[in-house]
Amino acid sequence: MKENAKLQVTILGLGYIGLPTAALIASKGITVHGVDVNRTVVDTINKGKIHIVEPDLEGLVHFAVRKGTLVASQKVRPSDVFLLAVPTPFKKNHQPDLSFVEKATRMLLPQLKPGNLFIIESTSPVGTTEKMARMIFKERPELKGKIHIAYCPERVLPGSVIYELQQNDRVIGGIDAASTDAASQFYSRFVRGTLHKTNSRTAEMTKLVENAYRDVNIAFANELSVICDKAGINVTELITLASKHPRVKILQPGPGVGGHCIAVDPWFIVSAFPEESRLIRQAREINTHKTTWVLSKIREAARAFQKKHGRQAVIACMGLAYKPDIDDLRESPALDVYTHLEQEGCSVMAVEPNIRKHPQLAITDTLRAVREADMLVYLVRHKEFQGLQTDGKIVLDFCGAMGF
Ligand SMILES: NC(=O)c1ccc[n+]([C@@H]2O[C@H](COP(=O)([O-])OP(=O)(O)OC[C@H]3O[C@@H](n4cnc5c(N)ncnc54)[C@H](O)[C@@H]3O)[C@@H](O)[C@H]2O)c1
Repeated sequence: MKENAKLQVTILGLGYIGLPTAALIASKGITVHGVDVNRTVVDTINKGKIHIVEPDLEGLVHFAVRKGTLVASQKVRPSDVFLLAVPTPFKKNHQPDLSFVEKATRMLLPQLKPGNLFIIESTSPVGTTEKMARMIFKERPELKGKIHIAYCPERVLPGSVIYELQQNDRVIGGIDAASTDAASQFYSRFVRGTLHKTNSRTAEMTKLVENAYRDVNIAFANELSVICDKAGINVTELITLASKHPRVKILQPGPGVGGHCIAVDPWFIVSAFPEESRLIRQAREINTHKTTWVLSKIREAARAFQKKHGRQAVIACMGLAYKPDIDDLRESPALDVYTHLEQEGCSVMAVEPNIRKHPQLAITDTLRAVREADMLVYLVRHKEFQGLQTDGKIVLDFCGAMGF
């Protein structure tokens, strides 16, 4: 393949995954055309600014745009490499929605030429890469055997994306061996982690399995928390003690599972293999049900308060993000709990130490909430909640924030 300075890469989808990837590749002197259907995203990036929160990203984007190695646009241009990082949500019935991947593939189809490499990074159901290959060759049969097509899943941690993009191992699966080799060569230009070669179906399943594994393990902790509640056992103490076993490591329970990966990706396995994926489906259902259970426990405590004091309890929802120590509210079960309570007419405070201001939520300062609320409902194990003085308050801890 060409040397970096002569290589042209087009990345479709400039969100949490596509933009850091584009900026990192551009920082290596490779020319990157970033394509997004959202005009505001394109304009923001071309000003050297960013529309998402991610440490170190703005500097990298600013540098690449000023140097001219990163240009954003709504149009696809000819390139050597095309990389897809568009959304793959699920539909109402938990079936994967591939419309973004299909649309983006159709957008780049007219620009494909022999020698090109086409990579999908969007989390996808097994067989998606082959499906897109069939679509490409149906429309452009002359390209059969002349382009490379591969799948390479992304597994970065929000908040450490720039570091992990370079350091994480990558799994790379082509639709044939030549495609796998071509994609591996491309990633070796900016990834320092080990590149593991496989086929596209295995690479697709690897990503889904990683998140299903997390989901199943969280479901175990969530199920334990419900059992312990009934048994009168402190689940945090139980998990700490059981994890003293040299081969046992139990995760922390919470009010459910959030974010746009762990709560979504297992469904891509379940929808394709409904008969065979009983544990994975059960884990999804346990984690979804946990939010309902948490709400019922809060309502029960609020009713008892009302009966005793003759007035409504002031409830502080401690933490709204979908996991500890971040500000991301996407698909957050903690936010769900807050929203339900608010809609039901409860007197409820939104406490999220990682967010200072929010357009729709009135955020209450942590110490003020501890002072003024009657009930402290811990939903996220943020470090700011450790060691708070909560004497005299009703405390419901659904995430082990209080220890034991
Ligand atoms: N965010 C993560 O932490 C993470 C981690 C691993 C994998 N993933 C996967 O990566 C993919 C992208 O996720 P994300 O979080 O970056 O999504 P995102 O919503 O942040 O960004 C996607 C971008 O794609 C754009 N887009 C939609 N259709 C397009 C099209 N046809 N052409 C060009 N742009 C288009 C949208 O406008 C948006 O800016 C998903 O499949 C997701 O599951 C995400």
